[in-house]
Amino acid sequence: MTPSSTGPERLSGVTAIILAAGVGSRMHAAQPKVLHPLLGRPMALWVVEAARSALNDPALLLLSPATASLHALAPVGTLRAEQLQPRGTGDAVRCALLALPAGVSEVLIACGDTPLLEPSSISALIATRRAARTPIALSAFHADDPTGYGRVELNNEGRAVRIVEERDATEEGRANDLVNAGLYAVERAWLEVALSALSPSTESGEIYLTDLVARAAEEGKPAPVLLGSGVDLEGVNDRRQFADASAALRERINAAHLERGVGMMDPTTTWIEPTVSIAADVMIEPNVMLSGNTSIGARTRIEAGSRIRESEIGEGCTIRASDIDSSRIANGVDVGPFAHVRPGCTIGAGSHVGNFAELKATTLAAKVKVGHHSYLGDTIVGEASNIGAGTITANYDGEKKHATKIGAGVFTGVGTLIVAPLTMGDRSKTGAGAVVLKDVPAGALVVGVPARTVGGA
Ligand code: UD1
Ligand code: CA
Repeated sequence: MTPSSTGPERLSGVTAIILAAGVGSRMHAAQPKVLHPLLGRPMALWVVEAARSALNDPALLLLSPATASLHALAPVGTLRAEQLQPRGTGDAVRCALLALPAGVSEVLIACGDTPLLEPSSISALIATRRAARTPIALSAFHADDPTGYGRVELNNEGRAVRIVEERDATEEGRANDLVNAGLYAVERAWLEVALSALSPSTESGEIYLTDLVARAAEEGKPAPVLLGSGVDLEGVNDRRQFADASAALRERINAAHLERGVGMMDPTTTWIEPTVSIAADVMIEPNVMLSGNTSIGARTRIEAGSRIRESEIGEGCTIRASDIDSSRIANGVDVGPFAHVRPGCTIGAGSHVGNFAELKATTLAAKVKVGHHSYLGDTIVGEASNIGAGTITANYDGEKKHATKIGAGVFTGVGTLIVAPLTMGDRSKTGAGAVVLKDVPAGALVVGVPARTVGGA
């Protein structure tokens, strides 16, 4: 469920070209800017999603060798083109056109660094161009701080005659707060001719896509300007804008969940990725992160400080200040505080995983108790067994991992050490501090170091 998946009917015959071959040097990061994830989704793919909600035809990602990995993360069917050197946005679109399918007569050009873009802004801009019958239309907004943006100059009719980049603007030009959003609807045939006529800026050597606006005006068809909101059209160039965009996306996602009946004590500290599904009547406390392919069942309570990734949590569970990764938790389970459920665990209905318990690739049947300070790795535990405080499976011999099988109704004493591989039979017991080196028969009681059978069986 993505908030951007709702909206007006999708348009056909328009391909979105999303520019994502730039470096993004203002982020001061080794990773190219458009790859930085916001709520788990790389920045440029938020734009792809917006285009997907607005348009029927697949989007075209314009990538550099450094951002090529984006394509594998994009929706199936997304087209790609490559720009080998970042020679500017005009050059980027030239490269994109080489991969544009024949038969596409209209394009929507968006920047991969505008993750807040709404599908409705895309549809409205296309409609604006169609209605005006001009070769190009663009989106603009009045910026509180226009620094870094291209400034849009209008004629008497409110059409754009020119875009002047910040670095080329005069002081007077910089005072103009009407800025170019970097979102354009363009007729393909015109674009191909107009782009081939652009020459590099004498200042930067880059080819500016924005020069198309002056060209359209010179041809007597100045571009209509669709005025949008700065919140949706803002570009992310630096870490400050990145943090602001993260917060805005978080708010959008949380608003949709709240509306459906998911409770949150403090939505400003609740981070839910767009891939997460949550039933109504779940309650989420502050400082919680839910990510990846995660689902949360009804009446479950996720308490403060929990982080859950790629996991399925059943109904009526309580998760307290715990870290759960790539695991499945059935109904009515309580976990934590401070438990670590590592990848590959399955926890049966009504089980209890207590404080400072660590589980890895472990399956607990129903009604198992792992109360305190335990480590179970590569272990299967049968129904209603009680794992005593500080029970540890020694599953690693320095070379290989070994499995432990604990039957149903087993009771391990405090501080039991189980040296895998071994099996403990149903209803067997260990005394406190037992070091178990051999299989324990069903119903037996073993004690000591190494553990010997003293009763039962
Ligand atoms: C651009 C616009 C500016 C506008 C702003 C809106 C130009 C010349 N300027 O400036 O008018 O106000 O966006 O946010 O277009 N990219 C490539 N290849 C390149 C260069 C850039 O793919 O060679 C991509 C980037 O990855 C980015 C987008 O194009 O996603 C915009 O590039 P960026 O360098 O951020 O342009 P701005 O300086 O913000
Ligand atoms: Ca930008």
